[in-house]
Amino acid sequence: MKSSDTGMEGPLKEKRGEMIAICSSKGGIGRTVLAVNLAVALSKSNIQISIIDGDLQFNDVSLAMDLHPTFTIKDVAESIDTIDKHTLPSYMIRHSSGVKVLAAPERPEFADLIKPDVIDRVCEMLLAQHDYLIADTGVGLQENTMQFIEKADQIFVLTTLEMSAIKNTKLMLETLDALGLKHKVQLVINRSTMESAIKASDVPDILGAENPIYVPNDFQIVSQSINIGIPFVLNQGKTDIAKSVFKMAEQLISRREISLFKPKPASIFHMLFNKNKGNAPQS
Ligand SMILES: Nc1ncnc2c1ncn2[C@@H]1O[C@H](COP(=O)(O)OP(=O)(O)OP(=O)(O)O)[C@@H](O)[C@H]1O
Ligand SMILES: [Mg+2]
Repeated sequence: MKSSDTGMEGPLKEKRGEMIAICSSKGGIGRTVLAVNLAVALSKSNIQISIIDGDLQFNDVSLAMDLHPTFTIKDVAESIDTIDKHTLPSYMIRHSSGVKVLAAPERPEFADLIKPDVIDRVCEMLLAQHDYLIADTGVGLQENTMQFIEKADQIFVLTTLEMSAIKNTKLMLETLDALGLKHKVQLVINRSTMESAIKASDVPDILGAENPIYVPNDFQIVSQSINIGIPFVLNQGKTDIAKSVFKMAEQLISRREISLFKPKPASIFHMLFNKNKGNAPQS
């Protein structure tokens, strides 16, 4: 197979978007809500954003964005040997915001057909064509979710203030730490303003995680958003919850700009080349 058939050639080396995996130790914590709203908030900066619905048993991203995909990652998996980064977009569905979505299979039993190597290749192809790839993932640390986590540049671990969520999040963070992935982890305390015996401000200490992102509790806005399939950053932009997501998007973009424009250390070849031209750096 030619390298151009794999979507892994030339431009991939030059342009690689940033991948964010949205994870949680428990279900119903807010992964899909955050994935969808963060993607749409990022798209307002006129950059290329894609979402992969990596919660492979349930096609929740499509519901949250009122999308009706013709194809899903199952179709991609079935044709993976003939798909490249140029043909992959035809398997995706475009939201009115510009965000492109690769949907999860339409039935839970198809999830097992999606193997980690397919996830790996699909993510690489998407990263070659987009500035950000947001991966909604399944609960916990199962095999496919681990594939997303290992590929990601940033792992957003969501928790709420509930005791069981905190307990499981601690175990998840410890596991990610043991796997050497701690430096990629960003803790997100969702529903941080909800009434609870545990205060949001105590969570970083309990979990040993610094600088969490706080997303306030707003059940009415969130449930209405899911029911009508319109991410709240689009039609409720002035609410505190939308502002918290916009802030997250801004921080991601400014951090990425800084890292992209940071001067790279000169390569040995570059230094030799300059030396031969009499421009050797002064020591
Ligand atoms: N910040 C929030 N404020 C209020 N309610 C919220 C918030 N975030 C999420 N919710 C509520 O939690 C529910 C679950 O959210 P969501 O579907 O995003 O979670 P999930 O982690 O993707 O769940 P699943 O495990 O089912 O995929 C939403 O339907 C909403 O009612
Ligand atoms: Mg979900």
